[in-house]
Amino acid sequence: MIETNDFDLENRIVAPEVIKADTTDDVDLNLRPKTLDEYIGQDKVKENLKIYIEAAKKRGDTLDHVLLYGPPGLGKTTLSGIIAHEMGVNFRVTSGPAIEKPGDLAALLTNLQEGDVLFIDEIHRLSRAIEEVLYPALEDFALDIIIGKGPSARSIRLDLNKFTLVGATTRAGQLTSPLRDRFGVIERLELYSKEELCDIIMRSSVILGVACDKEGAYELASRSRGTPRIANRFLKRVRDYADIMGNGKVTKKIVKIALDRMEVDDLGLDGLDRRLLTMIIKGYSGGPVGLDTLASAIGEEAVTIEDVCEPYLIQLGFISRTPRGRCATELAYKHLGLLKDGQTTL
Ligand code: ADE
Repeated sequence: MIETNDFDLENRIVAPEVIKADTTDDVDLNLRPKTLDEYIGQDKVKENLKIYIEAAKKRGDTLDHVLLYGPPGLGKTTLSGIIAHEMGVNFRVTSGPAIEKPGDLAALLTNLQEGDVLFIDEIHRLSRAIEEVLYPALEDFALDIIIGKGPSARSIRLDLNKFTLVGATTRAGQLTSPLRDRFGVIERLELYSKEELCDIIMRSSVILGVACDKEGAYELASRSRGTPRIANRFLKRVRDYADIMGNGKVTKKIVKIALDRMEVDDLGLDGLDRRLLTMIIKGYSGGPVGLDTLASAIGEEAVTIEDVCEPYLIQLGFISRTPRGRCATELAYKHLGLLKDGQTTL
């Protein structure tokens, strides 16, 4: 397998974040389930939401504010859309970095209708000034607007329609506690099992009109690092290989050919993951090595390592986090075919 060092992160095929290849055309939007029953996996979260939604509807009330957190690509936006759909209300989407001024948030909030769901992605990136505007909106459904400056400044209160905020974040730990405390429902999304990803791939292949057999779907699922966004992206790429190199059907053999060419190995690791593991093993004798040291050693940002590479490498049992830094486990050595001294096994 060829290793490349020049990483174009924006186009990394196993990037769990949205990349250029994930267009938002009609087909892509169709891949998103619209109801809780259509949504595969995250059973605990789904069961809880089902109860909260039913109870709110029974009382004729809005749903409490919801915080969804967990690694990228697991369906936080999709789930929020489902919440709006199940509640029978409008779905408004924005993100922390997109709200630059308090006025931006005020404009969004004053345009909400009774019961609407406002989704704020990357909510940990809201500035403090914006958070201050959000608190009374969340608690009392009101905006405090300051008119004038200096001693003559006064504050007037503007009533808002009752709404549900759904916040999403990959970094719940970065949320300030006053903001976190205002969410009545806090749910963590987990990486998906291979079986769940297999079901998602089979569902998507029907929607996309791609013939895909069970073994093909399982092979794809095994390399999708627990992430539906990656699984759906792979399915679309592998379809191209199936059309050109096979008879149009996504089979295990075609998946292997396609993903080997994309330098994604049989567990879904790409060059960046392997570079990271190899650096811990060869550069730091297997660890422990601090996150920032590791990040600069491989020329990557610490947040990318933490949010993008580590959740899956930890789930695989390839990396352990210790108080003194990251360590590579024996499983990682074995996967890379390396011995304890960093030499390659024969
Ligand atoms: N597509 C992406 N995520 C999905 C999910 N959790 N269930 C069904 N289809 C999906």
